[in-house]
Amino acid sequence: MSASLGRVLVIVPTYNEAQNLPIALDRLRTHVPEADVLVVDDGSPDGTGQLAEDLAALEAAGSGLRRVHVMHRSGKLGLGTAYIAGFRWALERSYDVVVEMDADGSHRAEDLPTILDAVQDADLVLGSRWVPGGAVLNWPLSRHVLSRGANIYTRVMLGIPLGDATGGFRAYRASLLRDLVLDDIASQGYCFQVDMAWRSVRQGARVREVPITFVEREIGTSKMSRAIVAEALVSVTRWGIAERSRRVAGAFRRS
Ligand code: GDD
Ligand code: MN
Repeated sequence: MSASLGRVLVIVPTYNEAQNLPIALDRLRTHVPEADVLVVDDGSPDGTGQLAEDLAALEAAGSGLRRVHVMHRSGKLGLGTAYIAGFRWALERSYDVVVEMDADGSHRAEDLPTILDAVQDADLVLGSRWVPGGAVLNWPLSRHVLSRGANIYTRVMLGIPLGDATGGFRAYRASLLRDLVLDDIASQGYCFQVDMAWRSVRQGARVREVPITFVEREIGTSKMSRAIVAEALVSVTRWGIAERSRRVAGAFRRS
């Protein structure tokens, strides 16, 4: 990874990841030693928030540098709003590149240097499970079907040429985040990822995909729920219809 990228912040949202977080932070330190980290914890009942504070203090005491920061929110407010709060925190502190990464080990820290390399000449880099070279390990068939189906539906409805618009392992240039007007983004759950990718494409941002290997968590449980899937389905359908009416209106104006 080249120094020309500037300051990198990795945002790690957590809800009940006490067993996973120490391992994830440790791997991150090994593979991307120079990045700062912001853990955004939603008042996890299992104490992940306090544990994150302890790990941050321990690292700062050892190295003399505070590189892990923790944001505490009042309760489980959703992945989308956790990232938006983290993005604001990053922009206020003038980071140059902002990374999204799960805490449960599914996003391998060893894939991050490749993602960061790619953002040298892109505004948004998606770690992609569904491009050649990408993979998912240990998912049940139901999750494969859900993820592939969601990505096909997104491509058809929104017309964006992305293999994995729903994934959550990505790097943004801060300049793109500044342009995206974070106040407008209402997506609360995982459809936030599609929302951001689609806005970036429409904005004319340079979006690249690099293959990653997604490894299903071994400890704890996924926070994916029926409500999250429903929000995504309704939102993508609504955006697709709005996009089609914009195109039709545009064609009428031209003729
Ligand atoms: N702060 C906060 N608040 N964190 C949350 C919340 C929330 O409401 N919901 C989930 N998280 C955290 C989890 O603790 C974990 O670190 C990360 O977000 C991902 O959550 P998982 O529940 O492990 O997601 P997944 O493995 O089912 O889904 C993965 O694939 C999706 C697409 O198929 C993730 O990578 C998603 O980001 C991705 O959209
Ligand atoms: Mn997971």
